[in-house]
Amino acid sequence: MAFREYKIGARMFGLAFGTSMFITLYMPAVDIANVSVTATGLHRQLSFGRMGGFGYEDPLLTGVNKPVSVILKTDPKSGSPMEATRAYVYEAGVPFPNGLRHPRILGKGPGELSASKGKIAESSETTGAVFVVREVEMNGEMVPYIENATAVRGWNPSDTMQKVSEADRFQIGKGKIMFVREGCWWCHTLLPEETQDWQYFGAPPMLGDFNGENPTAFGSDRKAPDLTHVGSRNSSREWMTLHFFNPRMVQPHSIMPRYDYLWGDVDANGNKINYSAWYASYDEYSAGKRVYPPEVPEPAKDSEARSLIDFVLNLK
Ligand code: HEC
Repeated sequence: MAFREYKIGARMFGLAFGTSMFITLYMPAVDIANVSVTATGLHRQLSFGRMGGFGYEDPLLTGVNKPVSVILKTDPKSGSPMEATRAYVYEAGVPFPNGLRHPRILGKGPGELSASKGKIAESSETTGAVFVVREVEMNGEMVPYIENATAVRGWNPSDTMQKVSEADRFQIGKGKIMFVREGCWWCHTLLPEETQDWQYFGAPPMLGDFNGENPTAFGSDRKAPDLTHVGSRNSSREWMTLHFFNPRMVQPHSIMPRYDYLWGDVDANGNKINYSAWYASYDEYSAGKRVYPPEVPEPAKDSEARSLIDFVLNLK
């Protein structure tokens, strides 16, 4: 008799386990596959490029072959002034992000619009392209899509780069590689967790904000502020520059490591950075022998520091 009860128990366990697996694994999978990308998700993947972490395209994480995000104020084709527009310039050979390679990832509305209005199928990695995120109203809702501005407007990558000033170029894709390589996610998250976090660090992301992004770098065990919206609460390039060179200059008890080596050999004016002289004066300052700390060099435009700052300030 006792054996019969075990059989009932085993079946009940099987049923409960099966139902719970169905609910936790299968149902969300169906749901997630139906989630369309948001405008934020399109901006993210277009600014990051294909891989944002370890991969065969850049195994040592140097940040090569990444798109450049720009703010366009003149039309690259006609040269006439236009409303400031964010565009993503993929020079010839720069790998396209996942959503362009597999438009199904974008979800139904954005996927179809990107193909029909956006002409993304006419873009090619070999020749490069310029992309823009657009939105149209469909059944009372704004649906975002990717426009291949090279096919739709005749904006080619080299003309576009010539039309933007240095201050309007952001190496966000390269900066994300620096974020992953330097292990910022070891201390910081890119995902505010629950209620108190949302009050403190701002709204959590939407599900469709990550379609096609690889990897997402959410982080897990947090020891430092969440950075999802850091560019909204602190948009100062100067503060970021001081803080990355040596966090103790702006936060005296910070446990964050210094990232001065991301400056490389020369500053923005091409002058060699003398780290030992810098630290000698900094030590005098810490010891109270100098009133001001030494000047932090401005990062060169192609330095890793500059890209990391572009990435961080763009987290809004
Ligand atoms: C050892 C842990 C640690 C690591 C690694 C680390 N940070 Fe931090 N970070 C902190 C702490 C703690 C703070 C808060 C104190 C401060 O401002 O220095 C902070 C603050 C910041 C802030 C300001 C946050 C705000 O709310 O204004 C930014 C931006 C930042 N870190 C970016 C980075 C980036 C990018 C990296 C990787 C290159 C990095 N951090 C690596 C610990 C860390």
